[in-house]
Amino acid sequence: MKHILVAGGAGYIGSHTVRALVKAGYKVTVLDNLEYGHEWAIVDQSVTLIKEDMGDIAKMKAMFQTETFDAVINFAGYINVGESVKDPLKYYENNVGRAVKFLQAMQEAKVDKLVFSSTCATYGEIETTPITESESQHPINPYGRSKLVYEYVLDDCEVAWGLKSVCLRYFNACGASADALIGEAHTPETHLIPLVLEAALGEREHITVYGTDYPTPDGTCVRDYIHVDDLADAHVLAVNRLLEGGSSLKCNVGTGTGFSVKEIIETAKRVTGKDIPVAYGKRREGDPPELVANPTLANTELNWTPTQSNIENVIRSAWNWAKKVSASS
Ligand SMILES: NC(=O)c1ccc[n+]([C@@H]2O[C@H](COP(=O)([O-])OP(=O)(O)OC[C@H]3O[C@@H](n4cnc5c(N)ncnc54)[C@H](O)[C@@H]3O)[C@@H](O)[C@H]2O)c1
Repeated sequence: MKHILVAGGAGYIGSHTVRALVKAGYKVTVLDNLEYGHEWAIVDQSVTLIKEDMGDIAKMKAMFQTETFDAVINFAGYINVGESVKDPLKYYENNVGRAVKFLQAMQEAKVDKLVFSSTCATYGEIETTPITESESQHPINPYGRSKLVYEYVLDDCEVAWGLKSVCLRYFNACGASADALIGEAHTPETHLIPLVLEAALGEREHITVYGTDYPTPDGTCVRDYIHVDDLADAHVLAVNRLLEGGSSLKCNVGTGTGFSVKEIIETAKRVTGKDIPVAYGKRREGDPPELVANPTLANTELNWTPTQSNIENVIRSAWNWAKKVSASS
């Protein structure tokens, strides 16, 4: 049985991917410092959790000496764009600095296969849509830049010591597992769908729509919403590719279809049957009008097709999860 180390596996996307890896027949170990992750998010009894920081090089070296890993997935990182603008060094220190130390330990242990959580934020403000991987990357905030720097680090490691990597550039991750055992639990929450559902539950006065004068059909921002279980499947396929000796790859993981903020709110009203109070605010700086993936490369190179990302299904799964969290709090 091949053994996969999942750094950041107690977080939102990582925990869904851990379940998909176990289902696919992999042995899985999670490395997470639990700063933002949750022990409850690791639901499979067979999975071992190592509560350490990926930047603790001595502990990482010891871990790689004790255990044999066939490949690594790295989800570990800070994710809040707004915070990265206020405190860029926090982002470079973790998303680049500690992640580089982690790579040093991998190099020493001769573990040379890595799947990395990259992001559509590495593209910046792109005029053309849908976005292909050949588009120039000019991220507009420290979060996006930290992720792009790490993509470069991985390229350089391939030249120097043969590291093979798959960088998955996610669009907007959303939804929850169909059995509502795990779902999105960020603190603070900044993502649209959970915030809309908090408003539906009455836990938030209203949802604020930032900008209604964008050059989009209804004037609000358009994004590509990808179900977290479809993202998880892309990671399993990326691991398979590397274990089969495949080449490095950087590809978008999105659906190819965009939904506006207003469309998300309307769908959430339909799915929940609740009134959702809306307030309108000014545009936020750095919010491009439209971010939609061209997912052709993931389809041809990984044989990946999203099956869970129908927007009603996304919101229904997130709603079931939100109700469960609300009832237990
Ligand atoms: N959520 C999205 O829509 C989205 C979109 C694009 C890219 N991404 C990327 O995907 C990855 C996962 O995102 P998420 O939404 O699951 O975030 P998350 O915060 O839920 O998960 C990240 C996990 O990494 C852990 N972690 C952070 N730094 C660590 C360190 N130094 N050592 C050990 N563990 C550490 C946290 O405790 C957490 O469990 C992130 O790298 C993020 O940048 C997310």
